[in-house]
Amino acid sequence: MATNGKVKIGIIGSQFQADIHATSLQIMPHEAELVAVSSPTPGNAEHFAKRFNIPRVYTDYREMLKDPAIEVISICAPNSLHCQMTKDAAAVGKHVICEKPLAMTIAEGEEMIAATKKAGVLLMYGEELLFTPKYLKTKEMADAGAFGKVYLVKQSEKHFGPHSEWFWDVNRSGGGALMDLGCHGIAFAHWFLGRSPIKTVYCQMGTYVHADKTKADDDSLCILEFENGAVALIENSWARRGGMDDKIEIFGEAGCTYANLHMGNAIPTYSENGYGYAVEKAPTTKGWTWPVFEELWNYGTPQELTHFARCVCGKEKLQSTGEDGLVVLKAMYAGYASAGEGRKVALPYQPPANVKRPIDLWLNGPAYRQPAKS
Ligand SMILES: NC(=O)c1ccc[n+]([C@@H]2O[C@H](COP(=O)([O-])OP(=O)(O)OC[C@H]3O[C@@H](n4cnc5c(N)ncnc54)[C@H](O)[C@@H]3O)[C@@H](O)[C@H]2O)c1
Repeated sequence: MATNGKVKIGIIGSQFQADIHATSLQIMPHEAELVAVSSPTPGNAEHFAKRFNIPRVYTDYREMLKDPAIEVISICAPNSLHCQMTKDAAAVGKHVICEKPLAMTIAEGEEMIAATKKAGVLLMYGEELLFTPKYLKTKEMADAGAFGKVYLVKQSEKHFGPHSEWFWDVNRSGGGALMDLGCHGIAFAHWFLGRSPIKTVYCQMGTYVHADKTKADDDSLCILEFENGAVALIENSWARRGGMDDKIEIFGEAGCTYANLHMGNAIPTYSENGYGYAVEKAPTTKGWTWPVFEELWNYGTPQELTHFARCVCGKEKLQSTGEDGLVVLKAMYAGYASAGEGRKVALPYQPPANVKRPIDLWLNGPAYRQPAKS
């Protein structure tokens, strides 16, 4: 650790999630700081470094890994690159923050965990819903017995589709709405239910509005059964108009609670003229809108990154591990298999060895239906 006591982070990526990490570290600047950025597109790392006052800039992340001052690598690059980047970072003794989903294949996820263990470094699975203040409060209430035994956890994340081209390309993303957004809901439910093992997964999905640009599922419903008897319903969409929508509902024998992350924290607003920014992925600010405030704080990313910096210093115990990410990835594989086979799938589920992307289990399954022609 350098003289100012802050954990030194090098970030891979300079676009959407990298921006959220950098802004989050500005919101909570006391424990960690970005000291380097790498991004392959000429000019992007420089631009990012200027915006966030980052001293060192690279186009090749492997060059950045040689910097001995860097203690942590934050991976904000496409899913297909997470495994190699994690292994490269671990090999030179850097701790790793890996954005969700953990990897493309279960074998990759296992390699990432093994590589970081062997190197004696920490691997955090970047799941901010575990740090989202509103959701954290519901978990605290549940753990204090507010709802009695919880039997149903619902989580839903929906918008009209990703901001970047690679998400739509299943070779680089591995899947659609379930892979991109369902990973949040599965991680949330697993954590909320005290990490009770997942017993079965049933999933229904389709490509309803974006068949012109992707083979991926743009809407999915996923039901998980847990060993403790509880059930989770995870709803995800890249087909929902109107900007980001993220909410949970918790039901127990003694009570229930509802939390809407964006609209529940928003300022119901009507404007004929529009204004600057409402919420992530909102297409307009005219008419009725629900502008959020302290958006990143409400997501929990500043708290997540600060937590990891404190873990690196031995001050806290890691809350979201590579193993947690692997549980989620295995459930998503079972989910795509379930949708492809049209049946509930029991865990542990082992995909055939030649399957390199979860979505293939759906696309090549007997229950797959081509999107209807409009
Ligand atoms: N936690 C969340 O809520 C959340 C939100 C958005 C994205 N993500 C995750 O973050 C990751 C990045 O997504 P994004 O939205 O920032 O995507 P993006 O397209 O906005 O940015 C991707 C970045 O990766 C870089 N990149 C691409 N190929 C690279 C390579 N070969 N080497 C190094 N860098 C490379 C690009 O130059 C770009 O800077 C994904 O895994 C995504 O699932 C998480």
